[in-house]
Amino acid sequence: MKRILTASAVLVLLATTPQANAQDTTVNIDAGQSGPTINRQIFGQFAEHLGTGIYGGVWVGPDSAIPNVRGIRSDVVAALKAIKVPNIRWPGGCFADEYHWKNGIGPQRRATVNSNWGGAIEPNTFGTDEFMDFVGQVGTDAFVSINVGSGSFEEASEWLAYMTADQRSGAGADRAANGHAPPYKVRFLGIGNETWGCGGNMRPEHYTDLLKPYARFTRNYNPDQQTGSEVMQRVAVGPSDDDTRYTEAVMKAWSERDWSWSIEGLSLHSYTVPQWPPSLPSTDFGEDDYALILQTTLKMDGRIARHAAIMDRYDPKKEVALVVDEWGVWLAKTPGSPEGFLQQQNSQRDAILAALNFNIFAKHADRVRGANIAQMVNVLQALILTDGQRMVLTPTYWVHKMYLPMQDATFVPVEFDAGEYRHGDIVLPAIDAVAMRDTAGKLWLSLVNLDPRESRDVAVAVAGVRVRSARGEVLTAPAFNSINTFEMPDTVVPRPIAGTVRGGAVRVSLPAKSVAMIALEP
Ligand code: AHR
Repeated sequence: MKRILTASAVLVLLATTPQANAQDTTVNIDAGQSGPTINRQIFGQFAEHLGTGIYGGVWVGPDSAIPNVRGIRSDVVAALKAIKVPNIRWPGGCFADEYHWKNGIGPQRRATVNSNWGGAIEPNTFGTDEFMDFVGQVGTDAFVSINVGSGSFEEASEWLAYMTADQRSGAGADRAANGHAPPYKVRFLGIGNETWGCGGNMRPEHYTDLLKPYARFTRNYNPDQQTGSEVMQRVAVGPSDDDTRYTEAVMKAWSERDWSWSIEGLSLHSYTVPQWPPSLPSTDFGEDDYALILQTTLKMDGRIARHAAIMDRYDPKKEVALVVDEWGVWLAKTPGSPEGFLQQQNSQRDAILAALNFNIFAKHADRVRGANIAQMVNVLQALILTDGQRMVLTPTYWVHKMYLPMQDATFVPVEFDAGEYRHGDIVLPAIDAVAMRDTAGKLWLSLVNLDPRESRDVAVAVAGVRVRSARGEVLTAPAFNSINTFEMPDTVVPRPIAGTVRGGAVRVSLPAKSVAMIALEP
């Protein structure tokens, strides 16, 4: 099993740690060491016109009995504000490459057919101005994916002008006439989506030929985004899972670029889906599924390492970020839910999966500087589920809340003996650990216990700080398949956890199947 310490080092550490026993794990933190910044953009969201991800989940219309501001439901906005969402990716997904933005502006909206997702009628009521209103209400950044698959350079460049140009221009005047005089900010621009698949099934060479003019002609005119930290980041379509062809082609093209175009990010789409079509249930599953899903999700680590190694060859200075802008568990649809709506429940197992992925992104913080879980509301690994007036926060939501200290934190290296969790032929690390210093300088340790049956006593040794307090929150549940429902919304919610501290040595009793985030304070 993955042993990060050498055997002799473990023995030394255990010898200095009182009350070691068979279920002990030792985490060794050198508080004097620091790694890269863990970009808060890894906590990005994804809201596609798919099922009830937008209509019902975000947009209810101004005349709805559901409390809303200009048609956008207030309970969802409040929940998203509470987790400081850094960006929201919109309008897709596969939807983006068939989206024609002019259908969704102004007083007359033109309904279309959502051919990717169940053939639902897309009323286009929620368009660019509504999305930007939503982004403003949440206090987040816009990540807009343009239509490369069935659109044109002209359509995309006009959309950017509509969103960002001064109202003295025709496009800016159109926007002002639709109620918003100041230019919007577009922080991230996705140049197509899955052009190797639903976005047009293009060879990487064909996509890179298109990428260059799109990157050039989709200009952001917002005067506040011309220099500095708010300059728009262009994210090219990149790989799917382990397929490296797009990684090679796009990075090669980028390395040979001239002054006329560039990108700042390369997308990776990688779902946790052990079999296709997705058929594992999201509720009432057993330990076979639990172990298989966690085994599958842990492949994200090696996958990122492989793509990052290719990027390093073309971009040793790490100027281009790897943006995992679709990730999460993809399960069988909720029985009885419409085809193509991708509705699934969300369990304690999925919260563990989310924490493991955030920890993986943190370990690759030098290259992974953005990520978007799929998806935000009512779709796939949703943070929020709605049903009419009702809203429930899922276990995955609570991981986002607990992981707030990780936003823009500095990575602090840890050494630990992960131990083993075995189920049948599957052998996984029992423990995962990541340490970080938050933006205020406080030291935090995230711990995950994958073992669904055994709690673990974790001994934490911090070199360079005499710890006096170890307190935080833990998320566990009666069962690994426990869920929150509209009727019982508080089955899986974070609860306080405290370690015992003696002489600067910390011990934490980490429950089975849990995620913890603990502040280690002097
Ligand atoms: O998130 C659902 C779909 O998965 C997205 O539309 C697409 O990009 C991906 O294949």
